[in-house]
This record gives sequence, C-alpha cells and structure tokens, in this order.
Amino acid sequence: MEKVSYKEIGLVNTREMFKKAMEGQYAIPAYNFNNMEQLQAIVMGCVESRSPFILQVSSGARKYANQTLLRFLAMGAVAMIKDANSPVKFALHLDHGDTFELCKSCIDSGFSSVMIDGSHHSYEENVRLTKQVVEYARDYDVTVEGELGVLAGIEDEVSAEKSTYTKPEEVEDFVSKTGVDSLAISIGTSHGAMKFKPEQCTRDERGVLVPPPLRFDILEEIEKRIPGFPIVLHGASSVIPEYVQIINSNGGKLKDAVGIPEDQLRRAARSAVCKVNIDSDGRLAMTAMIRKVFNESPAEFDPRKYLGPAREELKKMIIRKNKEVLGSADRA
Ligand code: G3H
Ligand code: 13P
Ligand code: ZN
Repeated sequence: MEKVSYKEIGLVNTREMFKKAMEGQYAIPAYNFNNMEQLQAIVMGCVESRSPFILQVSSGARKYANQTLLRFLAMGAVAMIKDANSPVKFALHLDHGDTFELCKSCIDSGFSSVMIDGSHHSYEENVRLTKQVVEYARDYDVTVEGELGVLAGIEDEVSAEKSTYTKPEEVEDFVSKTGVDSLAISIGTSHGAMKFKPEQCTRDERGVLVPPPLRFDILEEIEKRIPGFPIVLHGASSVIPEYVQIINSNGGKLKDAVGIPEDQLRRAARSAVCKVNIDSDGRLAMTAMIRKVFNESPAEFDPRKYLGPAREELKKMIIRKNKEVLGSADRA
C-alpha cells in the first residue's frame, strides 16, 4: 500500500491534546469504531459538543473495515468537520497493537498515534518491543501509547483471565527506557460488558450491582513518580444500565453486565488520566436501538431504519459523555 503521512490527511497526534487535557483537568475520549454509522456518530457527537477526540481502531476493526478504506474514512471525517466549520481536531489511533509490524503498517498508512500493548510479555520484552515502536514512530512524529499491568478480560486477541495491577515502581523506568508518550495502566477497569463477577460486587438499596472501586491509590502513586505524564484508562465503559435494560427487554440476554460508575471516571478525568477508552458503551447503545426497532417493527428491513436510530443514540451518548463524564466538551 502507498505510504501516507497523517499530516497530509489533516489529522493530529495526541501530544498537544494531552498537554491541554492535563492542564485543564479533563480527559480526551477515545471511541472505537468499525463502520460508517459509528464513525458518523463519533464525528457528529464530538463536533456538536466541540470536543477533541481520538478515533480508535483495533486490529480486528482494521480487518473488518479494510485498511485502505479506513484511510479514506479518516479523510472523509476530516472533510466533514471542515465543512461544518468546526475547530475540532482528532487523532487516528491503533488500539492494542500487538506487533511492531502492525504498528509500522498503521504509521505508514496514515495513523497519527499507535498503542503497542506489550503488557502480556515479560517486563524486559515489553520495554524492548515498545522502544522499537517508539524509535520508528519518532521519525514520523507519531505518538505512542505503551501499557504496564494487565487488565482482566479480553484485550483484543490477548486473553487475560486475571488482572495484574500496574506496579508503580516500574513506571519511571519504563517511561524513560521506552520514550513512550502516554501510559495505559491497570487499576481495576477491564474490557467488555461483564467487567466484574456478581460475587465481586455489592448491591445498593435498589438491588443494583455496585462494583469494587478503582485503585486510585495506585494511580496517585504513579502520578507521584511520573508527574505530568499522560495516563490512559482502558476498559472504561460504564455499561449504561438503561441500554442493558432495553437490550434485555427486547430479546437480548446480557446477564450480570456491570461497568465502571461514572463518578469514578469523572474523578479519573480530573487526574493525570488524559485518555479514556470507550467501546462497549457504544456497542450497547447501538444494539439497544437495533433490538428495539426489530422487536417493535418486525417487518422493517431497510438498514437505515435500524442503523439510523442506532447512530442517533450513539451520538447522544457521546455528547453526554463528553459533557458530563470526561469534561472534554467545549475544549476544541
Ligand atoms: O479493547 C478492545 C476494544 O474494545 C476493541 O475490541 O478487538 O473486538 O475490536 P475488538
Ligand atoms: P470497554 O470495553 O470498557 O469499552 O473498553 C474499551 C477499550 O479499552 C478499548 O481499548
Ligand atoms: Zn483497551
């Protein structure tokens, strides 16, 4: 595939975004996408709320959407934002890159930021691999996210049965040896819609499952050791109960779905956490609306009639998160 720089496409890397987020005590939302409706919802939601954002693509999403088409989708998003006379800027980011070759391929095809997730390797191998990606990315002014500590759940193709919290005593060494621009940490979040087992949770007065709190003590210890360094929170969906309820009352079966409470995310966004990753909540928003249309209008078969409401709901969710949870609205 022909090489292209993200600068030609009109994208930005995450450096300036994170600097402003750190100073302003908010976090940049990183929304995953796989298809046109998700992309439209993210772009329109962030333009309407005037929020900078990170458009995030996993290796699975890249395969699904087609890597060549993806570049043009990003170019289309830039053009859409320009046509709306909006000042909003965004980065195109590889989520959970697992090899040097994948990161290189994304950098060569117009990504402005990549994650190299070496968290499942030994510490030494994580340092070596991350450093290799940073050295390549530097020549193209592409920013790199590394990870220390393992989240419970599924990390793309890497399965992590149990979480291992980030060890604060490793972060200084990791950041200085690798030269990464941001660091994903493990403090109790996890991927997917079933983040905690019911036995790990308590129940509030209405019987709703309340998960164990995030380990803010670990985050604070990390902040002390690398002051002002951008931290990333993966697995940060709240698994919005309203969507789970709509899904389950329209034929779905999402048992024991529980996510990270929004007040904890608000607290994280005010700290050194500069990037918050959200995928599952977007999936739930779309699925809720699609199930509702299918259940209420079984004769419907025009994709616009179910993808349209799904896109609208995702956009609404994004605007609300940017305004009420991340604090990124009106920061464009
Ligand atoms: O952390 C993983 C993201 O939610 C992407 O998931 O690999 O199913 O695209 P995916
Ligand atoms: P959620 O599954 O909580 O949305 O996390 C997404 C994520 O971390 C993508 O990298
Ligand atoms: Zn993740």
